[in-house]
Amino acid sequence: MKSMHLTIRFSYGSGNRKPLLANPIPNLIALYNHFQLVRKYLLYYFSASNGKGHGVHSPFVFDFIKNVLSDKKIYACYSKIEQRRKELLANDDLIEVEDFGAGSSLIASSSRKVNAIAASSVKSKKYGQLLFRMIQYYQPSSLLELGTSLGITSSYLSQGNPSAKLITCEGASKIAAIAQQTFDTMGLDNIEIIEGDFTKTLPLLFSRMKTVDFAFVDGNHRKSSTIQYFQQLVDHSLPNSIFVMDDIHWSSEMEEAWSCIQQNPAVTLTIDLFFMGVVFINPTFKVKQHFTIRF
Ligand SMILES: C[S@@+](CC[C@H](N)C(=O)[O-])C[C@H]1O[C@@H](n2cnc3c(N)ncnc32)[C@H](O)[C@@H]1O
Repeated sequence: MKSMHLTIRFSYGSGNRKPLLANPIPNLIALYNHFQLVRKYLLYYFSASNGKGHGVHSPFVFDFIKNVLSDKKIYACYSKIEQRRKELLANDDLIEVEDFGAGSSLIASSSRKVNAIAASSVKSKKYGQLLFRMIQYYQPSSLLELGTSLGITSSYLSQGNPSAKLITCEGASKIAAIAQQTFDTMGLDNIEIIEGDFTKTLPLLFSRMKTVDFAFVDGNHRKSSTIQYFQQLVDHSLPNSIFVMDDIHWSSEMEEAWSCIQQNPAVTLTIDLFFMGVVFINPTFKVKQHFTIRF
């Protein structure tokens, strides 16, 4: 049976994230341990709706599965972006990195190797490419990302609709500088990096970015911050806005945040893909629905 050929690689998130031991500052946030995550993933995997759309009765969700989740085409930008990832994985330069912690205030700085950041903090190609396909299919025009890191997911987002503008926010200045090199190397000119702690940059940002069609939230994983960011996104949403929340199962706080997000009155449809949650703000969907789909 095909579904039994299941390889679980935690590292959290995408086969890359390492949340448990990488955090040098203890007690910031109670992350699930490896065993808990594997258990949760298995539960998700065996209870989720079929990733081919069989038995999914919502035409919108069926269309999402067919044209976005299951699209296996190899798009031209994939190899360019993955080549850049390889360069970052081979880069052992040490850089000074501000750590904002889960609580969004600057708590420490430390030296980290670029390749260690590329290996531990960046989404894998599977999820980067999914972000690309979401943008490519729905063609949102004002894009926001919280958590640039080295610029890999930003590159996927920007290439989904090169005529859209992506604003991406990053607090660690040396990391932001490498992300800028990522964009320059690939000639991506539709991305603007906003540097600084989200708590300071977001209010200013929202005073000039009146609406957000698409956001990818991959920064601070505290419950209260995640809910705050989400509410700010809702306040600037349009009918049809799509918000992707990363790491929704990585801790009990994030699971609680995800549950609050699902209950937000503006939210009409959510799709839980385990490592990411996709939220649709679409007032034409009269009944709120939540799906869990195997991906
Ligand atoms: C998981 S990484 C983003 C990975 C990136 N989206 C990718 O997959 O290519 C999260 C980034 O958010 C930044 N960050 C976390 N909390 C922040 C805060 N409060 N303000 C600004 N940046 C923050 C970190 O410095 C880190 O580079």
